[in-house]
Amino acid sequence: MQPITVKLLHWYDSHHRILPWRISPRDRLAGVVADPYRVWLSEIMLQQTTVEAVKPYFRAFTEKWPTVTHLASASQDDVLRAWAGLGYYSRARNLKKCADIVCAEFGGRFPIDVAGLKSLPGIGDYTAAAIASIAFDLPTAVVDGNVERVITRLYALATPMPFAKPEIRLRMQAITPDERPGDFAQAMMDLGATICTPRRPACVICPLNDNCEALRTTDPEFFPVKAPK
Ligand code: ADE
Repeated sequence: MQPITVKLLHWYDSHHRILPWRISPRDRLAGVVADPYRVWLSEIMLQQTTVEAVKPYFRAFTEKWPTVTHLASASQDDVLRAWAGLGYYSRARNLKKCADIVCAEFGGRFPIDVAGLKSLPGIGDYTAAAIASIAFDLPTAVVDGNVERVITRLYALATPMPFAKPEIRLRMQAITPDERPGDFAQAMMDLGATICTPRRPACVICPLNDNCEALRTTDPEFFPVKAPK
């Protein structure tokens, strides 16, 4: 593992956010493993909605429909009613479609590879990578807006967005470990959400401040570089 990876996982062990779709460290020690249904549901909800807004909806959905089979047996109207307030309703329609396909064609189990996941309604590049890594422990690079910010700062990538995206993905892939890739992806998200923020990042307490090229050479706030208008 690269030094950055080791440091970030170590930081995550004591500073991770406690979120309803995550397995608590205590449960993990007791042998609880990720539930692909809960990972999928949370990632769909988080696509265009903030963590705080998603929390109560995630709890309500998993109480009402604890498995993908329960969700597939619900009506489209029930799912849309439960989704009301989250916005972007095509997500709710795809959610139901996806649950139906997983039950009818995959025996109630999500495909365990990125290509299979991407064949399902509502699952694109980002969501497939997130599920593969968090639910199935595959070392796939998971890149969202938070990860883009952290990576462009760590490596002081001068290429403006969106042109930096291929290099960001390569850099993320290079530091994604074979062990605990899902924790690593979520650690990058948590770092971006709580420390490596868009404005006034908390570099003094960042676990990667010794590794950050932007902090060493200029100002992390300059990254990611925006395309000239
Ligand atoms: N945003 C998208 N997926 C997330 C996750 N698993 N944890 C925290 N924030 C997220």
